[in-house]
Amino acid sequence: MPSTNGRASRARRRALRIVQFFALAALLAACSGDQSVLDPKGPFAKGPDDLFMFVFWIAVVVFVLVQGLIVYTAVKFRQKAGDDALPVQTHGNTKLEIVWTVIPALILAAISVPTIQMIFDLDEEPPGAMTVEVIGHRWWWEYRYPDYGIITANELVIPVGVPIRLEMRAEESGAADRGVLHSYWVPKLGGKQDVIPGRMVTLNIQADTAGRYLGQCAEYCGLSHANMRNRAVALDMADFEEWVAAQQQPAAEPSDGLAVQGRELFTANCAACHTINSSSVAGADDFTNAIAPNLTHLMSRKEFAGAIFDLYGRDADGNFTDEPNVDLLKEWLRNPPAMKAMRPADGIGMPNLNLSEDQIEVLVAYLTTLQ
Ligand code: CUA
Repeated sequence: MPSTNGRASRARRRALRIVQFFALAALLAACSGDQSVLDPKGPFAKGPDDLFMFVFWIAVVVFVLVQGLIVYTAVKFRQKAGDDALPVQTHGNTKLEIVWTVIPALILAAISVPTIQMIFDLDEEPPGAMTVEVIGHRWWWEYRYPDYGIITANELVIPVGVPIRLEMRAEESGAADRGVLHSYWVPKLGGKQDVIPGRMVTLNIQADTAGRYLGQCAEYCGLSHANMRNRAVALDMADFEEWVAAQQQPAAEPSDGLAVQGRELFTANCAACHTINSSSVAGADDFTNAIAPNLTHLMSRKEFAGAIFDLYGRDADGNFTDEPNVDLLKEWLRNPPAMKAMRPADGIGMPNLNLSEDQIEVLVAYLTTLQ
């Protein structure tokens, strides 16, 4: 009959195996999906991915060789029944030690050459690159297109097949604690780069296929770090040019009575932080920090609030429809801090303005005109 001790240790082993299984599953899950670095969609993601595979296969060969030798040795030279003699004792073997020092040194040298080359290649400004300025705020991303006079937020819109040179920094004005590090990362399009207050850093990205690419802030930046997503939206050139022309327009003039009331309310309550451009030039070379996302063309984006909430409905396949997500916008305006649930109220820049239902109604009527 098994002892209580034996049963307990078997139960412990079983529990350990279950934990190991879930840890492995979680690890593998992290390697797939929307943010997989193993599914590059442009040259600045493909280069590091190729390098990773090169290093990975070298590691596989080394692993199989070393583990194979260990298993072979353990089996071949195990103690046989009745053999109590002490094996021959060896102290040092110069030839062997030179071999197992030189081989790893050669492997590391073989890995370091393309790695260092890659670091310099990725840093270089690609010919024909389009510049976009990126500013990391708590907790959203601002994008400025100096060549086009466009300022937008949360969604980085880029043309397919064109290298994009991101000139990035973190906001630095205002209260001393506002200047925090962020890290810009859209895994399928390029590398990851820390964004720093008071210093400009660069990152190259490019998408070779049209689509929406998920990214997220990858440096702990305070209470809503986990809510700081971003989207890179890659459009075919014709669609991109259309987007540029639309963004360069001033805000639409509301005609509907509710929307007109909404604009008045907006001007009185929201305009201190959110800009709505009344002229066609957004002042992209004005390098002062915006307090909150520019809402001139809010409805041209698909997501809001750090790209964590849907601004439009979705169909059965998860694709966005043309129907604005009015209910969610209203819920947001009722109490923004509560919407970023389970986070403390100061994990968001937008306060609860204690708006009435009527005020929310007219505000949403106005916001949804901002195409
Ligand atoms: Cu921004 Cu983490």
